[in-house]
Amino acid sequence: MSVEGLRFVITGSSAGIGAGTARLAAERGARVMVSDVNDELGEALAAEIRDAGGEALYQHCDVTDEAQVQSLMEAAGSAFGGIDVLHNNAGIHESMLTSDLSLETMSRDIFEKVVSVNLIGVFLCAKYALPYLKESEQASIINAGSTSSIAGYPNCMAYGSSKGAVMQLTKNLAVDLAPYGIRANCYCPGSIHTQMVDKFLEAAPDPQAMLNTMTLTHLIPRMGAPKDVAELVCFLASEQSQFINGVVWLIDGGSLAWRGTLDILGMGGAQ
Ligand SMILES: NC(=O)c1ccc[n+]([C@@H]2O[C@H](COP(=O)([O-])OP(=O)(O)OC[C@H]3O[C@@H](n4cnc5c(N)ncnc54)[C@H](O)[C@@H]3O)[C@@H](O)[C@H]2O)c1
Repeated sequence: MSVEGLRFVITGSSAGIGAGTARLAAERGARVMVSDVNDELGEALAAEIRDAGGEALYQHCDVTDEAQVQSLMEAAGSAFGGIDVLHNNAGIHESMLTSDLSLETMSRDIFEKVVSVNLIGVFLCAKYALPYLKESEQASIINAGSTSSIAGYPNCMAYGSSKGAVMQLTKNLAVDLAPYGIRANCYCPGSIHTQMVDKFLEAAPDPQAMLNTMTLTHLIPRMGAPKDVAELVCFLASEQSQFINGVVWLIDGGSLAWRGTLDILGMGGAQ
């Protein structure tokens, strides 16, 4: 899908799905602002993209920090002469912050931190990208939801509720920004192999059982890869998707299409 010449801001893009999207979009001719709280990895990724002949810069941005979000958008706007695509990818799961994941033990502070990154961060980034997106001929906001925007999973209270809200925020953005010709879409991945999933598995009482639960429900019997999601983000940003707005797009290997696990189809175990 063509993203050539489009100016991307991708939050949380030092690693995982964001990094995969930065690589793919740049490979296809987009100009990419990589941003994250992990400066070492982010700088290295931007350098890797430039070494490969692509166009990328890095700027530190904690999406919960309003001043940092504002300066990220200003930096991208001034380096690239505008912003066409805001990819709200930064996200955390409570298992990355604590092992107290039950209702009885989890603190309010942890819940608020997850909501702050996953939901308030999307609001702030959309707010400060808006003046630039208004000037773009092909503007869109692409938000990272999750299958947990839609279904309940164990030990996911803060994550699931924040992602459910991101799904709804996307629809509100699509409505409110329609007069400016700005589209807003949300995609909902199943299990994609990144450090976030590794941490989630480590925190589970029985990691193998959790891995089975996650992958044995995929009709495509594997975890997704960051590139699988990057392809969808590029499509949602591209000219080919200009009539797609306000959608919630599952990219979950079919896991929410049915109620079962692969063993009943004779398709074996997790990978
Ligand atoms: N991996 C999956 O299975 C999966 C499934 C559904 C949805 N998602 C969503 O996709 C997005 C990316 O997930 P991932 O698996 O690549 O995770 P990841 O942990 O590999 O990468 C997330 C990145 O976000 C950065 N980050 C964390 N807090 C931040 C903050 N406050 N400000 C800016 N950056 C911050 C991290 O440093 C990291 O580089 C997240 O929103 C996640 O919820 C992932």
